[in-house]
Amino acid sequence: MGEILRVDNINVYYGSIHAIKDVSFHVNEGEIVTLIGANGAGKTTTMHTISGLMKPKSGDIVYMGQSITKMEAHKIIRLGLAQVPEGRRVFSGLSVQENLEMGAYTRKDGPAAIQQDYEMVFDLLPRLKERRTQQAGTLSGGEQQMLAIGRALMCKPKMLLLDEPSMGLSPLLVKEVFKIIKDINRQGVTVLLVEQNAKMALEIAHRAYVLETGSIKMEGEAHALANNIEVRKAYLGC
Ligand SMILES: Nc1ncnc2c1ncn2[C@@H]1O[C@H](COP(=O)(O)OP(=O)(O)OP(=O)(O)O)[C@@H](O)[C@H]1O
Ligand SMILES: [Mg+2]
Repeated sequence: MGEILRVDNINVYYGSIHAIKDVSFHVNEGEIVTLIGANGAGKTTTMHTISGLMKPKSGDIVYMGQSITKMEAHKIIRLGLAQVPEGRRVFSGLSVQENLEMGAYTRKDGPAAIQQDYEMVFDLLPRLKERRTQQAGTLSGGEQQMLAIGRALMCKPKMLLLDEPSMGLSPLLVKEVFKIIKDINRQGVTVLLVEQNAKMALEIAHRAYVLETGSIKMEGEAHALANNIEVRKAYLGC
């Protein structure tokens, strides 16, 4: 398995606040890698830096062999690196179908291929099919999360960045969303998953990194970290 993404020694600031400090990690093609950490650890900042919404002061981000550090966000999406943002951010005044159409707007591979992907998204997320004409703002939290994932899939990504997809969902829905992430990965999409829900994230991920106050503190196979005493105490509550 080759490397699809490498984050190399990045430093990111908000004014004088040094939010990300010499962070390095990588994701291999086909993997689910999770970045776990508490509130304010720098997970969203890391995601935004990868997707081009923020720029690092130093360091490099390499995606499929190409530096994307200075690339604009809309160009990064076109390379097949899509983000499902924290807090979902669906277009609440638009229908489910229209939200999915927004996901496909950067594509140039024609209506037949796009139609095929609607079918793929509806197979994966059957609740969206039932609600395709419903206004997105009236969907439940879990359904909005599914729509945000479906919209990102409509960009036909090679790699998906997911920022806390479990946030605010009931335990049952969290399970459902994590199962969907696993299914997406099985269909060949590489996943970088940012989560506070370390227990669930470590269950589905292949490898993991622990982010604490802007620095990577631990890394390893997900099941090894799930059994690590320090991780258990700090993130799994046992
Ligand atoms: N716009 C901003 N201006 C100043 N500081 C910010 C800004 N956004 C984030 N920060 C700071 O950067 C640090 C990292 O924040 P970030 O949002 O990346 O954390 P997070 O790990 O995603 O947290 P959460 O789990 O709460 O979403 C925090 O200390 C935060 O206060
Ligand atoms: Mg965050």
